[in-house]
Amino acid sequence: MAPRCWRWWHWLGWPRIRPPSASNSTNSGFYRHFSAQKNPQICVVGSGPAGFYTAQHLLKHHTQAHVDIYEKQLVPFGLVRFGVAPDHPEVKNVINTFTQTARSDRCAFRGNVVVGKDVTVPELQGAYHAVVLSYGAEDHQRLEIPGEELPGVCSARAFVGWYNGLPENRELAPDLSCDTAVILGQGNVALDVARILLTPHEHLEKTDITEAALGVLRQSQVKTVWIVGRRGPLQVAFTIKELREMIHLPGTRPILDPADFLGLQDRIKEVPRPRKRLMELLLQTATEKPGAGAARQALATRAWGLRFFRSPQQVLPSPDGRRAAGIRLAVTRLEGVGEATQAVPTGDTEDLPCGLVLSSVGYKSRPIDPSVPFDSKLGIIPNVEGRVVDVPGLYCSGWVKRGPTGVITTTMTDSFLTSQMLLQDLKAGLLPSGPRPGFAAIQALLSSRGVRPVSFSDWEKLDAEEVSRGQGAGKPREKLVDPHEMLRLLGH
Ligand SMILES: Cc1cc2nc3c(=O)[nH]c(=O)nc-3n(C[C@H](O)[C@H](O)[C@H](O)COP(=O)(O)OP(=O)(O)OC[C@H]3O[C@@H](n4cnc5c(N)ncnc54)[C@H](O)[C@@H]3O)c2cc1C
Ligand SMILES: NC(=O)c1ccc[n+]([C@@H]2O[C@H](COP(=O)([O-])OP(=O)(O)OC[C@H]3O[C@@H](n4cnc5c(N)ncnc54)[C@H](OP(=O)(O)O)[C@@H]3O)[C@@H](O)[C@H]2O)c1
Repeated sequence: MAPRCWRWWHWLGWPRIRPPSASNSTNSGFYRHFSAQKNPQICVVGSGPAGFYTAQHLLKHHTQAHVDIYEKQLVPFGLVRFGVAPDHPEVKNVINTFTQTARSDRCAFRGNVVVGKDVTVPELQGAYHAVVLSYGAEDHQRLEIPGEELPGVCSARAFVGWYNGLPENRELAPDLSCDTAVILGQGNVALDVARILLTPHEHLEKTDITEAALGVLRQSQVKTVWIVGRRGPLQVAFTIKELREMIHLPGTRPILDPADFLGLQDRIKEVPRPRKRLMELLLQTATEKPGAGAARQALATRAWGLRFFRSPQQVLPSPDGRRAAGIRLAVTRLEGVGEATQAVPTGDTEDLPCGLVLSSVGYKSRPIDPSVPFDSKLGIIPNVEGRVVDVPGLYCSGWVKRGPTGVITTTMTDSFLTSQMLLQDLKAGLLPSGPRPGFAAIQALLSSRGVRPVSFSDWEKLDAEEVSRGQGAGKPREKLVDPHEMLRLLGH
């Protein structure tokens, strides 16, 4: 079998230096180039939690390593900026740790560079000793049902991007003139979206939600939000903290049908403790007798409800066919046990009238470059503990490595693991050790293509501008959402 470095060289298509023939490989000086590299140049693609945690671990455990973090946006931090809900500011504190990493003199942020378009992965491989792909999951999972394209249907991904100031979603302006919204999917993103739709706007005014989103939410007529799951209460994907926030949302009341919870008390005895506590809270809320909370509930002007055993079948058009007016749901029952429990249609359907359908059935990674293997069924880069299968020198971390689930701490753990594998390979001499030009070579390429990267100090200027714009309104920041304006502010 060809040695690993052979295949690596082959992948690179490196034209200037030829690997030795297999026959003289054992005593060739060539392999001395693959001894442990003293000053490795490493490149990370993506500046979300996966990118930053990978870089942090590499820099901490290899005191001579240099890490460049490439990012397509003009600003860093991925879903911490563009995903995490504006009313969860404490979650965004990880930005302080990421900032420390970015300020290291062995780390550089290279924003405004779309890898796969402005520069290819093989070009990065040629310039660095190792490349780590940490570019997340930027698409949404489609429902694949008729009517999905109608106005009034929107992915939760785009909706979240809109209220969080993601440039590509800044024009979304969803129509909230309807009374009822339906969210498909029962994960934490679904609960984030429901909460933002129903939170009194005066509570959002002190967050970093964009002013444009706030303007639309102030005019919202949405009074009821249904959160629909294809399976049952035991299979919900949201967690207890987020459910508690929904239950305590001012001015709203929950609508839970006690019939959905019959027999649950007995079944939850065996489930792991976190799920048991979640189920107990759901049960308690569904079966609560009028009491202390009754007065609050009576005053509620808005409501949210969980509907179970309902799978989306078709978005129903309005009579003129111009927009969504409801959703047809297939009634389901469960088959299988434990993790393998599946929703199977019973043949019955139910129509739920609504003016807004938000599909929140998960995110999805896309392939970045034809040279990088991609498992389109699983939506990940095939890898073993972060080593991309059959491509030595190429690694992955975060959502593109394991799929679009898991919180920031899960992403931290898997990014540290990827970094460990890379450092092991480096130590074992499995990565090339001859000098690598790093950013110098890529900068020349980018410049010849008219691409001008932005640095971390550029971000710090934009950051200061955002904070200053937010101050007048008592907000932590007013996000800049227009890339042209950002570049103008940077003098580019
Ligand atoms: C709506 C939402 C809310 C969430 N809220 C929480 C929460 O409250 N708490 C919590 O712990 N977790 C939360 N999570 C989960 C958390 O955000 C993820 O675990 C984490 O962000 C995954 O990190 P990542 O780096 O793999 O992906 P991302 O954060 O998506 O980072 C990927 C980065 O790669 C960049 N990129 C993409 N393509 C390219 C390219 N071609 N070239 C260069 N750069 C590229 C992207 O712009 C992005 O900056 C939330 C997730 C979502 C979707
Ligand atoms: N506050 C927080 O900590 C926070 C906030 C937001 C996101 N996150 C994390 O980010 C990750 C992504 O969240 P997410 O909500 O996008 O995904 P998720 O947790 O995987 O939930 C997806 C939901 O969509 C449903 N679904 C999937 N395909 C479907 C289909 N074809 N038809 C109907 N329903 C379908 C799933 O049901 P099935 O179970 O039946 O497949 C599930 O209820 C999660 O790990 C989440 O915890 C965390």
